[in-house]
Amino acid sequence: MTQDELKQQAALRALDYVVEGAIVGVGTGSTANFFIDGLAAMKDRIAGAVASSEASARRLAGHGIRLLDLNDVDHMPVYVDGADEIDASLAMIKGGGGALTREKIVAAVAGRFVCICDATKKVDCLGRFPLPVEVIPMARAQVTRELARLGGRPVLREGFVTDNGNLILDVHGLQIHDPSRLETAIDGIVGVVTNGLFARRGADVLLLATADGVVVYERT
Ligand code: A5P
Repeated sequence: MTQDELKQQAALRALDYVVEGAIVGVGTGSTANFFIDGLAAMKDRIAGAVASSEASARRLAGHGIRLLDLNDVDHMPVYVDGADEIDASLAMIKGGGGALTREKIVAAVAGRFVCICDATKKVDCLGRFPLPVEVIPMARAQVTRELARLGGRPVLREGFVTDNGNLILDVHGLQIHDPSRLETAIDGIVGVVTNGLFARRGADVLLLATADGVVVYERT
C-alpha cells in the first residue's frame, strides 16, 4: 500500500468520529485533504466546518461544505488533522504545511483532537522533523538567536508566508524529550506567534494507518 493510500485510510476512518448535526474542525495538509474529500459525502448531515487554513477552506468550499468563522462558534465536538510526527503520549509536531497557528487555535475550541496519520509519522522521540515556528517578520533575527540558544538550528523557510502574513523558522537538530516544556519555552520568546509542538493540547485519539489496518490509540 502506498503512503497516500494509508493517509486516505486513516482519513476515512475519522469520518466515524464526526458528530452528526454538529460543526467539525478541519485541519490542513495532504491527509486532511483526504478527510475533506470524504466529508463531502456527509455534508448534509453536519452543521458545517471550520477550516484551519485558506487552502482547506477552498477545498471545503469546492465540495459545497458550509464554512463557518471560528468567531461564530462556541464549541465543536471534534477537530480532525494530520501531523508531521506523533509520539506515544500523542504529543505532535505540526506545521509542515505552515498552518500551525490556525490549527492550534481551531483545535483549542474543539472537544476532541482526532489525529490521522500513516505509520511513518509515529516516533519514539519528537524532533527529527524540523520544528516549525511562526514568527513576526521584524523579530526573525532575534527569534533565530533565541532558538539557537535552546539548542536548535533554525532555518528560514524560503519564499513562504503564512496565512497570517508571518514567517516560518524550521528548527533542526532538536531531540524533544519534554515536549510540553519546550512548547512553553518557545512560546515565551518575544516575536514567536506559535510553535508546532502540540503537547500541552495533544491529540485525544490517533488513527494510525498501517499495512495491517488502522490502529486506534486513545490518550490515557
Ligand atoms: C500543516 O501545517 C501541518 O500541520 C499538517 O497537518 C502536517 O504537516 C501533516 O501534513 P500531511 O498530512 O501532508 O503529511
